[in-house]
Amino acid sequence: MPSMAAYNFSRNTQQHQSKGDFFARKQKIEQQRKNLPIAEVERRLMEEVRNNDTLIIVGETGSGKTTQLPQYLFKWGFCHDGGIIGITQPRRVAAITVAKRVAEESGVPLGQRVGYAIRFEDVTSVQTKIKYMTDGLLLREALLDPYLSKYSVIIVDEAHERTIHTDVLLGLLKNVQKARSKSINGVVNTDHNNSNAGHDLEERIGNQNDGILKPCQAKKYNLLKLIIMSASLDARVFSEYFGGARAVHVQGRQFPVDIFYTHKPETDCIDAALITIFQIHLEEGPGDILVFLTGQEEIESVERLIHERLRQLPESSRKLLTFPIFSSLPSEKQMKVFMPSPPGYRKVILATNIAETSVTIPGIRYVVDPGLVKARTYDPKMGVDSLIIVTTSKAQALQRSGRAGRDGPGKCYRLYQESFFEKLTDSTLPEIKRCDLSNVVLQLKALGIDDVVNFDFIEKPDRTAVVNSLWSLYLLGAVTEENKLSDVGHQMARLPLDPVYSKALIVASQFGCLKEMLICVAMLSVESIFYAPREKLEESRNALKSFASPEGDHLTLLNVYRAADEFFQKNKMVNSEERAEKNLRKWCKDNYINSRSLKHARDIHSQILRNVEQMGLRVTSCEDDMLLLRRCLAASFFLKVAMKQPDGAYRVTLSGLMVQIHPSSVLFRAKPECIVFNELVRTNHSYVRNVSRIDYLWLIELAPHLYAVQD
Ligand code: CDP
Ligand code: MG
Repeated sequence: MPSMAAYNFSRNTQQHQSKGDFFARKQKIEQQRKNLPIAEVERRLMEEVRNNDTLIIVGETGSGKTTQLPQYLFKWGFCHDGGIIGITQPRRVAAITVAKRVAEESGVPLGQRVGYAIRFEDVTSVQTKIKYMTDGLLLREALLDPYLSKYSVIIVDEAHERTIHTDVLLGLLKNVQKARSKSINGVVNTDHNNSNAGHDLEERIGNQNDGILKPCQAKKYNLLKLIIMSASLDARVFSEYFGGARAVHVQGRQFPVDIFYTHKPETDCIDAALITIFQIHLEEGPGDILVFLTGQEEIESVERLIHERLRQLPESSRKLLTFPIFSSLPSEKQMKVFMPSPPGYRKVILATNIAETSVTIPGIRYVVDPGLVKARTYDPKMGVDSLIIVTTSKAQALQRSGRAGRDGPGKCYRLYQESFFEKLTDSTLPEIKRCDLSNVVLQLKALGIDDVVNFDFIEKPDRTAVVNSLWSLYLLGAVTEENKLSDVGHQMARLPLDPVYSKALIVASQFGCLKEMLICVAMLSVESIFYAPREKLEESRNALKSFASPEGDHLTLLNVYRAADEFFQKNKMVNSEERAEKNLRKWCKDNYINSRSLKHARDIHSQILRNVEQMGLRVTSCEDDMLLLRRCLAASFFLKVAMKQPDGAYRVTLSGLMVQIHPSSVLFRAKPECIVFNELVRTNHSYVRNVSRIDYLWLIELAPHLYAVQD
């Protein structure tokens, strides 16, 4: 394939970089840094940070906020007190790719002065001074270190995204900042090593919360500087929340972008995207293409289809390279989107909305925007959280088109009609208003914040949503009748997982099948383990048969993992690790398993294994006692049970919602009487995915607080 050969060539030149190349690249990077809009205001920005404990920085995407500001802060001595600079990102990909870039810009190996940490991966060391991380990770750190004492500066980046973690973090940081500034004035003593300090912190802040920040007078060491960065021009909401904090604007550089709409509504957005990509490739001038897609599955199928269509083109028109970017893509692959395309080639970047504001890829002149995004939604009445594909907001559409005008005038192809754009909402509803809150409520409680309803959120979640999440935490045994965190709840909060999965691991350790449950949870935490291209549906179905368990998807996933692991371990006995990995990828391909997803699951598995070992849970195996494992699934996932109805549909026991088993499930045809499931997907119908057959009688025995003998 011509694209691969060319690609390898560019990678090899990277690996054998000569001294001259190295200096040339260094110089180029220096030049790029100097040219960023933010570089012009470095001194002024640093003065603002010095004069304001909380600062809001608004700047257009690509102006250099994320990569440059932490470096400026380091240079201007904002961590001379021994503290470090933390920068949170809503997305793991952004944390990783930006940290890598900044390490390179600073001329240091990643993980030393510049590092990153995301759930299941920590690339930092004691030398780390600039630490990129996800917002969720910093929240977890607060559980162990309630004062976030190792940070001198915390930058909450991409605040306009208003992820649930960002929103909670803002409230928490406001408290921490107050407590730390008061400690300077001798009111509170910071106790860095006290892991129970969370309770004290809340109490102390609760007692002395006068809502006024003390000016920066005392020792720098204890002061926490907060910087909120946003790409949205409306800084007011953040400024008001932080008591009228100062907001500054960094001017961006933007070339005009021509917007095109379709004449009629598109029914097949993948096909429309493909046609547009090839139209640009064959008819437009040089420049790379950025396509916004909804997720890994869609990206992988578009990538495949592009390669297929390329093969039908004459040799001279095949100079098109594809680069996917989505969150579970292995991190070494993520950086490839930033590499310039070889001369004569055009790049197509297939991205989720990661590329909307979080990462800026140079060289884009064309944007293809189907106007869709995968979003979490929550139905408080039904108590169900689901991932659905929704239309973007106007603000998102504008951000997306803006990506085409960074390096010169660009073009954006919106795959919908202009009249449709007018109907889009202005901006997206903050996540806290549209998702299940159990995880957040559990974490806040673990931090000692019991009165979640009255927590100082930037925007309050709906009361019903809070009450529902408290109710499900109660049913899971995480909170007591007095609304306090139970011992099990404390254990659950220590695991970086959804509460239901944390609970499953704890239950499994009692059942004696934790080894198997760890695998199930790891496999459930990744998207699409099975690879089923439309054109090879038959072959992929046959391949699945060798793993399929008549008892359901959980056992099927376990079979896949076990088979892959056995293959890998055997291989490792006779081959190098690298070779064994390569052979495993081949094995995946032969068996229609998505090797990227499997690798991700294996990584998650080794992390949570470490977590449960640290917690002192017993990791024993039930070997082949699958009955025991299924009973354990029932004891863990009893909140998500559905019963077959006379018409063959299923009724979710707790909500009454009518659902169907998803066609991808091994139980799609078998239709057992009673099932547990993990995921609810809503398209035209409501489907449940990751389904296992259970016996209703088990529920009466294992979850008697919810299930009784039926009449
Ligand atoms: O945060 P903001 O959107 O203001 O910009 P940034 O992410 O700091 O990006 C500044 C510049 O760095 C852009 O021109 C990016 O293309 C470049 N960059 C890069 O070349 N490689 C990365 N891994 C990250 C950023
Ligand atoms: Mg940024």
